[in-house]
Amino acid sequence: MTTEAATVPAAARARAAELRGVVDHHARQYHVLDAPEITDAEYDRLFRELLELETRYPGLQTPDSPTQRVGGAPLESFTKVRHRTPMLSLNNAFSAEEVRDFVRRVERGTDGAVDSYVCELKIDGLAMSLTYSDGEYVRAATRGNGVEGEDVTANVRTIRSVPMKLRSPDGPLPRVFEVRGEVYLPKAAFAALNARLEEAGKPTYANPRNAAAGAVRQLDPTVTAKRGLQTFMYHLDPPGTARTQDEVLSALDTAGFRVNPHRRVTHSLEEILAFLDEWGERRHDLDYETDGVVIKVAALGQQAELGTISRSPRWAIAYKFPPEEKETVVLDIPVFVGRTGAVTPVAMLEPVFVAGSTVRRCTLHNEDEVARKDVRIGDTVVLHKAGDVIPEIVRVIPEKRPRRTKRWAPPQHCPACNSELVREPGEAVRRCLNPLCPAQRVERLLHFASRGAMNIEGLGPAVIEQLVEHGFVTEAADLFGVTKEQLLTLEGFADRSAEKLVQSIEQRKRVPLPRLITALGMRHVGDHTAEVLAQHFGTLDALAAATSEELLAVEGIGEVVARDVAAWLQSDEGREVLANLRRAGVEAEHTERASGPLSGQTWVLTGTLDSMTRPEAEDRIRALGGNPGSSVSRKTHTVVAGASPGSKLEKARRLGVRVLEEDAFLAALEELEKQR
Ligand code: IVH
Repeated sequence: MTTEAATVPAAARARAAELRGVVDHHARQYHVLDAPEITDAEYDRLFRELLELETRYPGLQTPDSPTQRVGGAPLESFTKVRHRTPMLSLNNAFSAEEVRDFVRRVERGTDGAVDSYVCELKIDGLAMSLTYSDGEYVRAATRGNGVEGEDVTANVRTIRSVPMKLRSPDGPLPRVFEVRGEVYLPKAAFAALNARLEEAGKPTYANPRNAAAGAVRQLDPTVTAKRGLQTFMYHLDPPGTARTQDEVLSALDTAGFRVNPHRRVTHSLEEILAFLDEWGERRHDLDYETDGVVIKVAALGQQAELGTISRSPRWAIAYKFPPEEKETVVLDIPVFVGRTGAVTPVAMLEPVFVAGSTVRRCTLHNEDEVARKDVRIGDTVVLHKAGDVIPEIVRVIPEKRPRRTKRWAPPQHCPACNSELVREPGEAVRRCLNPLCPAQRVERLLHFASRGAMNIEGLGPAVIEQLVEHGFVTEAADLFGVTKEQLLTLEGFADRSAEKLVQSIEQRKRVPLPRLITALGMRHVGDHTAEVLAQHFGTLDALAAATSEELLAVEGIGEVVARDVAAWLQSDEGREVLANLRRAGVEAEHTERASGPLSGQTWVLTGTLDSMTRPEAEDRIRALGGNPGSSVSRKTHTVVAGASPGSKLEKARRLGVRVLEEDAFLAALEELEKQR
């Protein structure tokens, strides 16, 4: 009997090896260096070719193949592994004085011989130890209790910046070593994950670190793969030929690990303090959370000399930034009615500047949360930002509470329509169940028109509120019947702006199916679920006819979502919404991406165009196979600059991305459209 491997033709084997190298190279350019050399489409093509080869000849599959990054089979549980040497923790310093004391201790311990310290950002992530042997990734383990951690090899393999093969296996790194660092979730990925969880009615994560830990500890690696984890590595054990911490970092960088660029070799207490000051401010501009600076004696020989006491090295200290907490006063606690009728208490605050921006209000999530924190109107509270992003009340300062305040009580009736609010068993929120509630109506319409849904430009809260108030619009389909004359009776409209809005509404009668599904605003259906449903059902009619069993059979759709989506589709209101949209001429475009001369290219618009609306420009780009993007990076093919362009233009210039002004853009579109 031949083995599986022996049946693979030599040419396929060679091609697979070649593809693994090429795909790895480009993945690194993209994920580690932020400097892609090929388009996403080209990358996908190479990746798919490798995947096809491996599917045809399973013998070709290797654990270090880039195809394995999407996650393997789920685990039953994690096994324990012992670290090569214990993973230490650091002593903390909370002030310049404590940093000075640290420097003095170090100088005493080395007879004043230390002249360099490396300052590194302290990444607020999850400590991780990766083992490499002969240049290959073999294992990943969490810190655990420092001596023993959990084996998370399969999950960490899905993190794109973790190299499966080192770039310079014969470099200065030892043959077998552990490299340590942080796995973290970027702020944006954290905010997006929490938004998805909130939408699905699931508990959210308090900060990116917890979210990263949650992602790493998934038993199913395919879930980890989707969370968008990132890494920074900073420690090497044993250190090979490196003599200083800065050499360690350079060696890791050269070997292909992601190393934080914001590090500095300093030579005095003053230089150290200057670094702390600088990053105390600049940290809010980063796309990840840092809670301090780690100061390390640079020379590894001196580190050894200083040694370790009770699990903390004497040669390093973690300076913690003062927590970004501010006091402010709660002016009021109104409740807001969302599009699903859920009523959310919100604290209106005396404006306060915290972690990089002014905060005026913050959600209190639900009545249990208000009760738990006992937040009352008039209270002085401590405010911070979860994950540096989401404002949150940490606690009330009871000493500052004015006399005779009352506990906050949730309203019993909807502030918008006065119908009774109902809290269903097992739910944290109270809801207004009146489908005709004007507040829900406005929120539903706002959601319908929003960027993530139908993306109708110019249809913001002020306009929608007036449209509803005047009785011109009660549900989504009515938007498509709004006339210029009606708009002219509203505040803030002139001839041209009214005409523009009517046009931009008209243009959005045809949108991609996932957008239309998102726009319906069904409970638990955000853009991700909408995409899944669109992929599966293909048309709105097919989706509308789906039973809850059929929905449950769709991969990625759980019981709760299946039940709620089916309930919505089969309800009288749901059927009516769909029928009315159909009657208004709204229909979904085919979901397949058009292929054409702009395939694989991302074009980003900035500023306003005279000749067309932004959605129209985006649709034309899409029709030519292009991808209208929202932010500029090196991968952006072209930036189209209209009147009063924003920072995207600056960024394009800085990155050397091609810029077209409106005339040139129009000429290019017409030329390409002619060729089709
Ligand atoms: S050095 C012996 N460097 O902060 C070496 N740690 O409270 C110890 N951390 O356990 C770690 N960024 O999980 C080091 N640039 C950095 C770090 C860092 C984050 C974490 C790490 C450590 C904890 C200390």
